[in-house]
Amino acid sequence: MIIAMGNDHSAVDLKKEIAEYIKEKYQYEVLDFGTNSYESFDYPLAGEQAANAVRDGVADLGIVICGTGVGISLACNKVSGIRCVCCSEPYSAKMGRNHNNANMLAFGARVVGAELAKMIVDAFLTNEFEGGRHARRVNMIMNIEERNRGR
Ligand code: RB5
Repeated sequence: MIIAMGNDHSAVDLKKEIAEYIKEKYQYEVLDFGTNSYESFDYPLAGEQAANAVRDGVADLGIVICGTGVGISLACNKVSGIRCVCCSEPYSAKMGRNHNNANMLAFGARVVGAELAKMIVDAFLTNEFEGGRHARRVNMIMNIEERNRGR
């Protein structure tokens, strides 16, 4: 499995800690599209690059972090085929996979501590899409994207 990560200046340390956690615990490869500087960095840049990697199949899933997780998740969700869920607790990350077939996870470095972030990441990485009635709803979401193409 390959995980695309992205972050802004607010999440440099948490990104590094989560990347190491994923590599050690899951033996997954991590691609880093984020900044490693504390200088102000615009989160849409990292979000778009990480999302592009997921969209293109270069990465299987994405994990992005900014101060709140909100801005970078919004940026990722502008990329076709991306379903990025912004989560502050593990239950939403699990259900984001089970019911929404989320392919990217976002959280906030100014919102969650490192240990809670690891629990959120675990919930995201260890759960699968359940399909069935949820597939119809996810398809409805993706059809909204299709209907808005070029507008
Ligand atoms: C940066 O100050 C902050 O706005 C950013 O990290 C993020 O929280 C945006 O949603």
